[in-house]
Amino acid sequence: MPRILITGSLGQIGTELSEKLREKYGKENIICTDLRAPKNNNCDPFYTLDVLDTVSFEHIISSNDIDWLIHNASILSATGEKDPHLAMRVNFRGFDNAIELARKYNLRIISPSSIAAFGPSTPRVNTPDNTVMRPNTIYGVSKVYVELLGEYYNHKWGTDFRTLRYPGIISYKTPPMHGTTDYAVAIFHEALKNKKYESFLKEDMLLPMMYMPDCLKATIGLLEVDSSRLKQRSFNVSGMSFNPEQISDAIKKYIPEFQISYNPDYRQEIAEGWPNSLDDTAAREQWNWKPEYDLDAMVVDMLGNLSDILDIPFDKK
Ligand SMILES: NC(=O)c1ccc[n+]([C@@H]2O[C@H](COP(=O)([O-])OP(=O)(O)OC[C@H]3O[C@@H](n4cnc5c(N)ncnc54)[C@H](O)[C@@H]3O)[C@@H](O)[C@H]2O)c1
Repeated sequence: MPRILITGSLGQIGTELSEKLREKYGKENIICTDLRAPKNNNCDPFYTLDVLDTVSFEHIISSNDIDWLIHNASILSATGEKDPHLAMRVNFRGFDNAIELARKYNLRIISPSSIAAFGPSTPRVNTPDNTVMRPNTIYGVSKVYVELLGEYYNHKWGTDFRTLRYPGIISYKTPPMHGTTDYAVAIFHEALKNKKYESFLKEDMLLPMMYMPDCLKATIGLLEVDSSRLKQRSFNVSGMSFNPEQISDAIKKYIPEFQISYNPDYRQEIAEGWPNSLDDTAAREQWNWKPEYDLDAMVVDMLGNLSDILDIPFDKK
């Protein structure tokens, strides 16, 4: 069994990924860490770790006999634009620490990238893996840095670095709070609670998205594939693409009285620099990636699960 360390493990993705990995590899083999302390002891073994603290980061790796590192600690797009210097520290220096420790301890390392690594001059439709990457947000710049430095470590020292460019991730267990695609989660909470939602993106802002079960499937798929099968180290992964109007229409099939209104803010400008859809042929060919959820399947699953959590009745029909 590999022993796996996760940074930023209390985040939207880390919470569900660590749960899935515990089921697969055994609780004792998944070592969770985050800047914050957990609210319960479901995450044990757990260490409080700031990824900028190199000494503690190294100590946790060496004393826990780690094989694989999932480096999820990051400042996301919306928070990054509010505090670019914080994003520079955590996303650049934090990754420097993670990749250097991966080299030193011969770890397999996954550090997620994002569609934010692309930019306004990137071809937006069916965006390929290799294309123009000139992002205009600090978050996007940090993701290009992760990809290029990780690939350099792989080429120079053979460090087993891998990354996937997640689209916006939709989930019901842990609310996302810091990203530009978070509207696609908030809309479900508001649809169930208040039957209306004010979108901070325009009605036709088409973006690539992915439901959490597919995000976990993609991450574990890339984590587990034998290194010899990889012809590249950075991969697009695609789930579905929709705009606020289309997700609103999909929700109305189940909650007919639901109403959406639009009041775009600074996040609209961030989203305008991102692709509409992704070409993920290489992921499909090299490690058999295939998503399971389209828009309708995701909407019905989200509404069903969230209505249980919020204790609001919902008729699946
Ligand atoms: N959620 C998405 O839609 C999405 C999309 C594309 C890429 N990603 C990437 O996936 C990864 C995980 O994202 P997420 O959605 O779980 O993010 P999140 O914001 O929900 O969680 C990030 C976690 O990192 C922790 N953290 C922040 N600064 C830290 C530090 N200095 N040291 C240690 N921990 C620190 C936070 O406490 C938080 O728990 C990130 O690299 C993110 O950029 C996420």
